[in-house]
Amino acid sequence: MTEEKFIPKPYSKAVEKGNFTWSSPSNIALVKYWGKKERQIPENPSISFTLNNCKTITKLTFSKKQNHSGFSFEVFLDDEKKDDFKPKIETFFNRVEQYLPFLKDFHFKIETSNTFPHSSGIASSASGMSALALCLMSVEKELVESDVTSSAVEMSDEFFIQKASFLARLGSGSACRSLEGDLVVWGKHDEITGSSDLFGVKYPFEVHENFKNYQDTILLVDKGEKQVSSTVGHNLMHGHPFAQQRFNQANQNLSNLISILKEGDLDAFIALVESEALTLHAMMMTSMPYFILMKPNTLEIINKIWTFRKNTGSKVCFTLDAGANVHVLFPEKEKDGVLKFIKNELVAYCQNGHYISDRIGFGSKLL
Ligand code: DP6
Repeated sequence: MTEEKFIPKPYSKAVEKGNFTWSSPSNIALVKYWGKKERQIPENPSISFTLNNCKTITKLTFSKKQNHSGFSFEVFLDDEKKDDFKPKIETFFNRVEQYLPFLKDFHFKIETSNTFPHSSGIASSASGMSALALCLMSVEKELVESDVTSSAVEMSDEFFIQKASFLARLGSGSACRSLEGDLVVWGKHDEITGSSDLFGVKYPFEVHENFKNYQDTILLVDKGEKQVSSTVGHNLMHGHPFAQQRFNQANQNLSNLISILKEGDLDAFIALVESEALTLHAMMMTSMPYFILMKPNTLEIINKIWTFRKNTGSKVCFTLDAGANVHVLFPEKEKDGVLKFIKNELVAYCQNGHYISDRIGFGSKLL
């Protein structure tokens, strides 16, 4: 399958103005995407749990403009104009313009808000870029689905989501995994039917009860700006001495996860997920320049989790993003016990005691 599939035929319908609002969640990778080629093609496949509570809500208002020159848009976060968001969106528009040829025909007002605090150190690019991509797809759907001719074309839901994921990827790689749930794979993998480097797909195989409604409590260890942007981070994998081994390992981990998910093997899941998190950080520690993105409190939390697991037999584990915050993952049936442990023993290591209780979700919604 090629990108050409996403270049639309001339639009059949004239639309003057309108608006669409989508909510789209964040996601947390189990096998991590770290390293990419040109045009947002990942070096290795990744898989994530879609989250439920951490999401972005974006309203896109569009009105036809007279000329076709340049992109015209304004951005608001929580009703406040955000000109510093514009360059990222301009880059996104440039990347997707050939797939959305209407972009220069309209003026857009993008109003966005997050359910999690902006300064929480939680990346909003996955939820934000997927919500925006979905709003743009709603505009395209309107332009495509002619109501004036008898030969009305209908855009299938499958194509809509696939192209939205394709566009979201061009905004931010991990964003292409946020549209559906509860497990999404992005990147071609020989054993995963339908997987693609171009967009995320729902994990197609059997998943054991143990992993249904899995919980994720995000401990906010450091709410500051990211020390290393993801663009810089991914670039560090170019010429990295361990890059190829890492990409092979990610492929192997995803293969191994297939039977782990099927059999509900929580111990093997823990080992794989924690190793992925530490490997991601190991890649940053062994790149040039090198970074340590964990904070002392990140390590305190990890050690407390290991002790708790050893003492109680709990199946709680952790994963990390490219930062100091810790995602604490656990089966739903352990909810009461683990939340008590978090409150009693882990919250002390969070900045201002802040944490967010979340769980697996099922993707984006048109509001
Ligand atoms: C560590 O998706 O933020 O969270 O494509 O440059 O926008 P860009 O990168 P981004 O990278 C996410 C990296 C990660 C791992 C993951 O989510 O798979």
